[in-house]
Parts: sequence; C-alpha cells; structure tokens
Amino acid sequence: MSRPVVPVDSWVGGTSYDNYVGRWSRPVAREFVAWLDPQSGSRWLDIGCGTGALTESVLLAAAPAAVTGIDPSADFVAHAGAQVPDPRATFRRGTATDIPLPTAAVDLTVSGLVLNFVSDRPAALHEMRRVTRKGGTIAAYVWDYGAEMQLMRYFWDAVIDRGAAASADEAARFDFCRPGPLRHLFVDAGLLAVEVAPIVVPTVFADFDDYWTPFLQASAAAPAYVRSLGEDDRVALREALRQRLPVRADGTIALHAGAWAVRGRS
Ligand SMILES: C[S@@+](CC[C@H](N)C(=O)[O-])C[C@H]1O[C@@H](n2cnc3c(N)ncnc32)[C@H](O)[C@@H]1O
Repeated sequence: MSRPVVPVDSWVGGTSYDNYVGRWSRPVAREFVAWLDPQSGSRWLDIGCGTGALTESVLLAAAPAAVTGIDPSADFVAHAGAQVPDPRATFRRGTATDIPLPTAAVDLTVSGLVLNFVSDRPAALHEMRRVTRKGGTIAAYVWDYGAEMQLMRYFWDAVIDRGAAASADEAARFDFCRPGPLRHLFVDAGLLAVEVAPIVVPTVFADFDDYWTPFLQASAAAPAYVRSLGEDDRVALREALRQRLPVRADGTIALHAGAWAVRGRS
C-alpha cells in the first residue's frame, strides 16, 4: 500500500465534519472555555469557527455580550449560522491573518483546532493581538496528534504500518501541536502570563461502524486518505483498524481525545 500522500485539508460538509470530529471538538471546547474562566458580558472572537463548536460553548457557558465566528469556508460559515441561531452570534468569512474586525474590537480571541492549518502563525498572532483590546485574552487549542487524539492516532498508526510514508501522519505534518511550540508562538508574539495545559475528553463509539463510517464521508485529511484508496486497500485498512481498536464485549470502543490549550494576555 506504499503510495505518496498529498494532504487534503478542505473544509466543506458541516454534517460529515461533525460526525467525524466535530462531535468530539464540542466537549473539548466546553473544557477550554471553563479553563479561561471568562467574565460575563465579554465580546468574543472565534477564529476558524468551523461548524460553530467553540462559539456554541461560549454562548452556553460564558454569558457573552457577543461572539463573532470567522472562517474561510463559506460552507462552514453557512452551516454554523444555521446551527447556532443565537442573536448574540454572528458568522462571517475571514482568516486568522485577515480578520474583518476593527482594532481592539473584542475582549477575548479564541481559536479551536485551527492554528496548525495556518501557514503564517506569527502573522496570525499579530492580527489576533490587533483585534483584541489591551489586557484581553488570546487563547487556542490544537489536537494532540502525536499521542492523545486517539481516534486519529489509531488510524495513522494503521496506515503507516501498512506501508504509507510516515509524512502522511498528521502528527508528522503538525509537529507544531506540542506544548513547546505553542508556548513559543505565544511568548514570541509578546503575550503575557502564557500558560499551556492539556485537555482530555472521553470519546466513546457505539460500535466499529460508528468509528469507521465518518472516515468515508468527511472532508478532512484522514477521510480524504481513505477515499484515495482503491476498494481492496480500503477494506484491508478497515479490517486492520478493527483488529487494533480496543473493541469491548458490548461492541463499544472507548477512546479519548486530547488537545493542548494555550492562553496569554495581550
Ligand atoms: C479542524 S476545523 C475546526 C473547526 C472548529 N473550530 C471546531 O473546533 O470544530 C479547522 C477550521 O479551520 C479553518 N481554517 C483553515 N485555515 C484557516 C485560516 N488560515 N484562518 C482561519 N481559519 C482557518 C477551516 O476552514 C476549518 O473550519
């Protein structure tokens, strides 16, 4: 099965994204918002809001005055708007390096599972600081691709064992997603009181199909890899995963999803 892998990070299809990983980004978002211990009545910006997982958690747990979600994907912006009809939330297109807000417009700028997809991260931090008031908070989290994001870890370990190039693994592509690089990015951007913390949440799959089927549908890198395979290789990978995963007697699969969170004061 050795073959070159072209990473695909296309962001379309909100429902298939939610079935793949959005359903697990929601509990991480809840833990993250609690970790920030925010003041009520704050103005928030959610960069790379996707289908609205983090915005929703802010609305539920932080009593914000307003939340603006921005994302380059028109499809995800539309999906988030339909999913999150709260009048305090606004969704629009924008990127981390070109934020459609004036200077000092918000009290907190947050971003969930996005920074590793941004090619010029120092420029993104600079732009995040521009739109955040002095003394405000800038914070983000990324998957722990190398270890505790087990849904993906099992997948890529099986792919590499079957002969794919090690560079296909998102842990190799996203070496940034570790405490050291995260801390450096925030410190080098001039943020104060920078802290990094792990967030780990349980991810329980009803059965093997509940784990596997989203890989056949979503638009992220691992599902795109599955769809690039011929039928025989796809079946072989599926069966290799079935053997590896800790399927319990009742058919459920209990994994966990880990992320690294970072915060600092502007
Ligand atoms: C893994 S999804 C995370 C979505 C959402 N925050 C969540 O937690 O479910 C990554 C998101 O980053 C967005 N994205 C990619 N490049 C970006 C950039 N340069 N600036 C802002 N967002 C970006 C994608 O469109 C996608 O919605």
